[in-house]
Amino acid sequence: MGFLSVLSFAHKLVSERLTPGDIAVDATAGTGADTLFLAKACGMKGHVFSFDIQQQALDLTQARMAKEESGLIAEVTLLNTSHARMEQELPVNVHGQVAAVMFNLGYLPAEGADPALITVPDSTIPALEAGLRLLRPRGVLTAVLYPGHPGGEIEAAAVEDWAKALPASMGQTIIYRQLQRPSAPYLVAVDRK
Ligand SMILES: C[S@@+](CC[C@H](N)C(=O)[O-])C[C@H]1O[C@@H](n2cnc3c(N)ncnc32)[C@H](O)[C@@H]1O
Repeated sequence: MGFLSVLSFAHKLVSERLTPGDIAVDATAGTGADTLFLAKACGMKGHVFSFDIQQQALDLTQARMAKEESGLIAEVTLLNTSHARMEQELPVNVHGQVAAVMFNLGYLPAEGADPALITVPDSTIPALEAGLRLLRPRGVLTAVLYPGHPGGEIEAAAVEDWAKALPASMGQTIIYRQLQRPSAPYLVAVDRK
């Protein structure tokens, strides 16, 4: 059976913190899997803000949401802009109230998408910083890292360094990684103090 996959473990950490009515952020909408997961967990009174720089990703996310019965999941706001703008894009009244921020880095896993269009440390690190500031106390931030593709290793190392250097007064950071497969995706998570 083995341990939980990295994505399942990220969902587990987040679902343990979310309750109906919560606000959450998907920093990398992609095909919308995490947005849908967050929308279900936040429930009909909740709100999910979902970012992606590619319209194709937001269209895929929108299509995924459209299959759900409306009224049962959270309101979802799709934002076609960089996650580095998270603080400017979220209403001021939800700053410090966000229960979870999820990052799934790398490229859009969809037909016809440009695999060279990947997340990069120059925007990922400011976005992580912003995500942390938006979280409420005991909120959780997750980042799935992909060291196996070109550029992914540098980004994964940058995120790890960022998490290691985070003052304990800001939160506790952990890593979830299969040690025998250095190129496999892995997870860094922050429990906000
Ligand atoms: C690995 S995919 C996300 C997978 C997604 N969570 C899913 O369930 O399908 C990474 C996404 O990050 C997006 N991305 C790249 N740079 C970004 C940025 N600066 N801000 C927001 N999204 C970005 C890409 O367009 C891509 O769709």
